[in-house]
Amino acid sequence: MSIDYSEKIPNNVNLSNDRTLQRALEHWQPHFLDWWREMGPHDFASADVYLRTATGVDAQGWATYGAVKMPDYRWGIFLADAIPERKIGFGDSFGEPVWQQVPGEFRSQFRRLIVTQGDTEPASVEQQHLLGHTCPSLYDLRNLFQVNVEEGRHLWAMVYLLHAHFGRDGREEAEELLARHSGDTDKPRILGTFNEPISDWLSFFCFTYFTDRDGKFQLKSLAESSFDPLARTCRFMLTEEAHHMFVGETGISRVVQRTCEAMRAAGISDPADVARVRALGVVDLPTLQKKLNLHYTLSLDLFGSEVSTNAANAFNAGIKGRYHETQIKDDHRLQNDTYPVLKLVNGEIRRVDEPALTALNMRLRDDYTQDCVKGLLRWNKIISTAGYDFKLTLPNVAFHRQIGEFRDIHATPDGVLIDDATWNRRRSEWLPSADDGDFIASLMTPVTETGRYAPWISPPKVGIDNKPGDFEYVKIET
Ligand SMILES: [Fe+2]
Ligand SMILES: [Fe+2]
Repeated sequence: MSIDYSEKIPNNVNLSNDRTLQRALEHWQPHFLDWWREMGPHDFASADVYLRTATGVDAQGWATYGAVKMPDYRWGIFLADAIPERKIGFGDSFGEPVWQQVPGEFRSQFRRLIVTQGDTEPASVEQQHLLGHTCPSLYDLRNLFQVNVEEGRHLWAMVYLLHAHFGRDGREEAEELLARHSGDTDKPRILGTFNEPISDWLSFFCFTYFTDRDGKFQLKSLAESSFDPLARTCRFMLTEEAHHMFVGETGISRVVQRTCEAMRAAGISDPADVARVRALGVVDLPTLQKKLNLHYTLSLDLFGSEVSTNAANAFNAGIKGRYHETQIKDDHRLQNDTYPVLKLVNGEIRRVDEPALTALNMRLRDDYTQDCVKGLLRWNKIISTAGYDFKLTLPNVAFHRQIGEFRDIHATPDGVLIDDATWNRRRSEWLPSADDGDFIASLMTPVTETGRYAPWISPPKVGIDNKPGDFEYVKIET
């Protein structure tokens, strides 16, 4: 179904057929725009940004690019096309027709899930509020803004569901989504990870690689939901999310590429010679490893406890399925199945078989980790091709955790349990220290001439929408 842009709120849900809903959303719209102006990208409101806007929810609809001033971006409500005769794919109601309305008994569970997902979307825009000021190029600045406007649209996606299906409660939740703010002492965002500012571009690339990927896995499991409007909303969000992870993966690739080139040009044979590498004005690989350690583990925490009756209930109820649920060959009920979970047993990390239903968070997290590994392989290829013997790795899941089995212990990135004193003494070997942060911050000087890049990052291999290298992705002076 094509998207109607003549409406105040672009949509493909026939909004004009439901005057009450349309009026309620048109009432929320100026509140959203106020939020964007205050909490969205600082400055740049008058800049022309080369953005893509969805004109349809099929592959063709994505081919639409043009110069837009961000406050004029057409945020709207887009659902992927309905799958005819779609049936519930898992849980107690397996095989029955999907729901077009939320069943009363699951209302509060759905509401909590939608609000929690919705809260992360504006949170990330807030976290990146000041990042535009230190962009390494106009290409990167444009990508940041593309991610930001789409996270804003993801908020619209969740607010639509709240307004359309949760009545007065839903409308109140929609207002609250604009009232909580990342890092606010009185009204913080719901999940801890989303209350930390993203103040440098290395963090931004790690965030889009690891944290947006957590988003992908949450959306993938909600795209299996029996509540069809939620499933269709998430399916379309996933097509937008793919670009965010592309920004992260290629961003880190370009950092690694540049560092290797600079080390070779300077005749440095040991990538661990941090002082010499830093003197070249590029990100040394050991510091990059620490950033990966941090952002990966913060993102693991977003999957919740490894063993969780909430997760089992959500599956049984048909609320949230597994990654690629419909492609899995089993009974989709899991009543008698087990799944191996890493647990702390008598002071050791052990694999223990748990009922598959309560281990669903662990399973989704394992799927996530496998997906994360792909980028590591690409980055390590760049390093080995440059002739260096250095491997970036993902730390053990017991390392640096605040949630789940390992939250009360300390472990090294290799998964060796250590005491508090050792942790305190060695933590800066594994996680970014204040010094590391200062060094990264020292690299963050803005580059805004067309076709130029900060000295710590390589140009991209191809431009956005196949634009040439000197394309002016953001026209700052207008
Ligand atoms: Fe998002
Ligand atoms: Fe995203």
